[in-house]
Amino acid sequence: MSSENAPPPSATNAVLVASQPVPEGTHEVRGVDFERFHGRDITVAEMVEDMRYMGFQGSAVSEAAQIINEMRAYRHPETGDKTTIFLGYTSNLISSGLRDTLRYLVRHKHVSAIVTTAGGVEEDLIKCLAPTYMGSFSTPGAGLRQQGLNRIGNLVVPNSNYCAFEDWLVPILDQMLEEQEAAQAKARETGDEEDELHWTPSRIIERLGREINHEDSVLYWAARNGIPIFCPALTDGSLGDMLYFHTYKSSPRRLRVDIVDDVRRINTMAVRAARAGMIILGGGVIKHHIANACLMRNGAESAVYINTAQEFDGSDAGARPDEAVSWGKIKPDAKSVKVYAEATVVFPLIVAATFARAETPEQH
Ligand SMILES: NC(=O)c1ccc[n+]([C@@H]2O[C@H](COP(=O)([O-])OP(=O)(O)OC[C@H]3O[C@@H](n4cnc5c(N)ncnc54)[C@H](O)[C@@H]3O)[C@@H](O)[C@H]2O)c1
Repeated sequence: MSSENAPPPSATNAVLVASQPVPEGTHEVRGVDFERFHGRDITVAEMVEDMRYMGFQGSAVSEAAQIINEMRAYRHPETGDKTTIFLGYTSNLISSGLRDTLRYLVRHKHVSAIVTTAGGVEEDLIKCLAPTYMGSFSTPGAGLRQQGLNRIGNLVVPNSNYCAFEDWLVPILDQMLEEQEAAQAKARETGDEEDELHWTPSRIIERLGREINHEDSVLYWAARNGIPIFCPALTDGSLGDMLYFHTYKSSPRRLRVDIVDDVRRINTMAVRAARAGMIILGGGVIKHHIANACLMRNGAESAVYINTAQEFDGSDAGARPDEAVSWGKIKPDAKSVKVYAEATVVFPLIVAATFARAETPEQH
């Protein structure tokens, strides 16, 4: 071939740089082969397992399921203690149908403690009093406002639900104030500080779970099963509105809420855990509060993050697990994954492949 007809060697060398062998044990990309399940329905667990070498977020979903199954399988060699699993979720997830999945986990004692925000507490209770409806992302706010309807994404909550919540809640707040005042009076009499009653967000939430006494409620099952629900920003929602109005109703007396007792309670759980696992759906307070508790034990042993947030803005919400390693909130040798996805899509799949399985699968 004359040099006129041959491609320039600089170009061929640039395009076809000689390959080094890939490291041993590198997996081939492959996805779900429905041929393998011909003639029968594939289970969700099988599908999630088969997504392992799919690539992109398919692999991340599968890895999340694997890490959670490892959390579940762990037993301390001497004491037999299990992984202490901290579950965090944002408020909107309780507004959504994911509440049913979260309740399943709590009802069957699959998690040890929960961290959520105020809406994650009150929307669970409100749903026992009146339903949340399907709506549309595109319904204009002004029209909804005129109709007394509030939009959460493509969900709609009528104002009347919050009125029902107020009617239900205020007598309980009255009663809690009476108990606080009676305990204070007793402590003054006996001189024993132990007789004082310090309401904390987790104690209030437990009380509300007992009061609602409804099997649809996450709070109800958490109270029954002794699973604490932490909510360091309990006032940032309708609950805060009610607590604010209650200060006028009960004046000059006032309900006092102690958040220091709760940080001690969650941190103590992390410190004493034989092994700690984090499952965090969404970002913000719920994500950081769990990670910060795990700092007290020099890091969690495993972590699954599922959220849509990005890290380029430096937000804690978007930070990958590796950022938490730098802070001592996740151990350097921990297994961790961030699934970049909307939680209502992927978490039911992950639960079907983990907690909802009849048996914990063999670990590989
Ligand atoms: N229903 C409600 O959403 C509701 C109701 C009352 C009060 N509030 C209050 O609003 C405040 C902010 O809410 P928040 O802290 O619970 O979280 P948020 O709604 O502000 O979300 C925080 C981050 O979590 C991630 N995220 C949220 N939803 C997700 C999803 N479906 N899938 C994946 N990632 C997701 C996103 O990155 C988001 O930026 C809180 O103080 C809360 O009490 C919310």
